[in-house]
Amino acid sequence: MLEVGAISVTITGIMLGYEGIRRMWGDKSDLKLIGELFENINFGIKRNGEMEYPKLINKDIGDEKKMYDTYIYTLPLGIKFSLFKMLEEHLTDGIGRDVKIESGERIAKIRVAREVLGDKIPLAPFLGKTKGWKVLIGVNAFEAVTHDFEAYPMVVGGGATRFGKTVFMKNVMTQLILQNPDDIEIYIIDLKGGLEFKKYKKIKQVVDVVDNPIQAFKLLGSLAGESDSWLSRRFELFDKEGYNDITKTPIRKRTFLIVDETHDLFKNTDPRITNQVKKKIENYMARLAAMGGGLGFRMLAFTQYPVKEAMPQFVKQNAPVRIGFQTADGVASRVIMDQDGLQDLPGIPGRCMVKSFKYTTVQVPWYLNHYDLVKQYEVIKDEPEHGTKIDEGNRDTPINRQAIVPK
Ligand SMILES: Nc1ncnc2c1ncn2[C@@H]1O[C@H](COP(=O)(O)OP(=O)(O)OP(=O)(O)O)[C@@H](O)[C@H]1O
Ligand SMILES: [Mg+2]
Repeated sequence: MLEVGAISVTITGIMLGYEGIRRMWGDKSDLKLIGELFENINFGIKRNGEMEYPKLINKDIGDEKKMYDTYIYTLPLGIKFSLFKMLEEHLTDGIGRDVKIESGERIAKIRVAREVLGDKIPLAPFLGKTKGWKVLIGVNAFEAVTHDFEAYPMVVGGGATRFGKTVFMKNVMTQLILQNPDDIEIYIIDLKGGLEFKKYKKIKQVVDVVDNPIQAFKLLGSLAGESDSWLSRRFELFDKEGYNDITKTPIRKRTFLIVDETHDLFKNTDPRITNQVKKKIENYMARLAAMGGGLGFRMLAFTQYPVKEAMPQFVKQNAPVRIGFQTADGVASRVIMDQDGLQDLPGIPGRCMVKSFKYTTVQVPWYLNHYDLVKQYEVIKDEPEHGTKIDEGNRDTPINRQAIVPK
């Protein structure tokens, strides 16, 4: 999922051109600071009464295509790379810019970002740089972090209010639509009153947007119910054709579910959501998370209240990739990322930590009006059929069943 290459060349241009905070020290000072740190924390080996520190053997600075300088050290015999790697945090604090330490043959490379990571990095230059089901998540001085939904179908995340969850979801959705206009169908559960996603109902690729828990229950039933659902039809099709993994079939269509506020889905107080309905919602989500991936189902689900009820274990177990924005404390961070850290982010909207094979902090690119990018796909839709029958007055949002039959 982590990628450098074509995309990172682009970030270089953008970030260098961007009005970041000016560099505070020259190259010499970065080196000096690194040396001082070794001495201050006695990071070396004592030999014949003399301290032997890591030795600088090379440096790569001033390369205009790169966003960082590299200092290469040999490690004194007896100092393991894993120990050296622990300096990353100290150096980041001391230098005041991002530092990344990488290993080589008995050497360690200290990469020091030239600029403080920007807090408004435009999305537009990145559009069109990724393809298919791979999308850009965010960037830092060292890499552009992308996510491939074919490899990991479910992504969940969270963070405190106003730190950029919805902007992130719209970034992802927009890229997916622009990259796969004929092959994607999207269902959206927007439990923040439909404020953010309702207008996407007019977009060809968006099958339905529901904005209350009862409608969400119906939608989930039509996707994951035991019979006559998206899932059951996919099972039949796969059984008939002898398929077991969508990526190895000629089926190009992928079905996405975007959930903005899982807390209200699993833990709402609507009196119509009885315990029995609650159990069913959990069951539907569990079935989609556990069985949907191989059948072509993909999910992006976020919460503003990272408590364990909002991110149930059965969803998390099937979603190894997590996206975490600022949280109030370590407890919330552990719910989202399985470790502390989100509470220590710098409090900048769009700054998030990505958990995939490792943890990486990036800035999510910014776009003001995502709808403009997909407005070209506005269509007049027929009045769709109604979904599962459940009495909810006149707030019913029907489900277009036609659109969920696989190609
Ligand atoms: N990637 C970003 N870059 C710069 N600014 C951002 C970014 N994402 C969000 N912001 C700023 O933060 C504000 C809130 O973002 P957003 O609506 O996505 O937050 P949220 O986490 O969904 O909040 P809530 O939980 O209240 O729904 C935006 O209006 C914007 O001003
Ligand atoms: Mg939001």
